[in-house]
Amino acid sequence: MKDYQARPDLLAGRVVLVAGASSGLGRTASLAYARHGATVALLARNEARLETVYDEIVAAGGPEPAMFPFDLAAADDRGLETLAGTIAHHLGRLDGMLYSAHQFFSLTPLALQTLEQWQSLMRVNLIAPFALTRACLPLLRQAPDASVVFTGESHGHRPAAYWGGYAVAKAGLETLTHIWNEELADTATLRINTLIPGPVATTLRARTHPGHTPDALPAPDDLMPWYLYLMGPDSQTVRGQIIECAP
Ligand SMILES: NC(=O)c1ccc[n+]([C@@H]2O[C@H](COP(=O)([O-])OP(=O)(O)OC[C@H]3O[C@@H](n4cnc5c(N)ncnc54)[C@H](OP(=O)(O)O)[C@@H]3O)[C@@H](O)[C@H]2O)c1
Repeated sequence: MKDYQARPDLLAGRVVLVAGASSGLGRTASLAYARHGATVALLARNEARLETVYDEIVAAGGPEPAMFPFDLAAADDRGLETLAGTIAHHLGRLDGMLYSAHQFFSLTPLALQTLEQWQSLMRVNLIAPFALTRACLPLLRQAPDASVVFTGESHGHRPAAYWGGYAVAKAGLETLTHIWNEELADTATLRINTLIPGPVATTLRARTHPGHTPDALPAPDDLMPWYLYLMGPDSQTVRGQIIECAP
């Protein structure tokens, strides 16, 4: 899939929600989706950073995006349903969602992790992807070809010491993917997959591996063939998969 070449109009006419659009992989995917024709609903907390992504998309001649400054850690069902309603009202449809937002504290032994940290880790890394998908489900079901992509973590797939609640939440995301997939078996027009990027040079990587040089790592742009493939119609038959970019 790393050699996948997306045609220029791959996502033309589609609306894609990107949670975690203000930085890293979510930012790069938002730019890539817009470059391939999508109207992107940009969601994150930091409005100034969202505006930068918005401006970059407009400057590159992409469809005018929409900005949703929103805190997924504080969201409740009502807030998420209002968000989905606002997307429907302003953008008229929803053909895809990339969940790239995450919460991470530090690599620490379980003995030092707190209940409050775990609640926050579960909230942003597992509960919010579930609840945001649920809130958007009526819209996604209306789309002729809809794709939801969660972002996993290799340590959620293969647990290791010190990754704690972060890895547990990411492991839960894989289970969530399988359950959604079974429950959507009779909805051929909607698929849900989890993409595990592997090591990528972003601010998160600098926090998890402070001693590593980012130059040796893939850049977010290098992973865009996967992000485009999974969001567009060429992956219509890929359902309920956990896909590792760098196994
Ligand atoms: N980078 C890697 O090496 C790597 C490896 C494996 C997996 N991943 C996964 O890839 C995904 C993206 O990682 P990244 O490296 O691109 O991270 P990043 O650069 O830190 O970006 C994270 C995004 O999430 C948003 N966000 C965080 N908390 C939020 C909240 N409460 N509400 C709304 N938005 C929130 C941030 O925006 P605001 O601060 O503006 O809210 C930001 O846009 C994550 O799921 C991560 O687990 C990354």
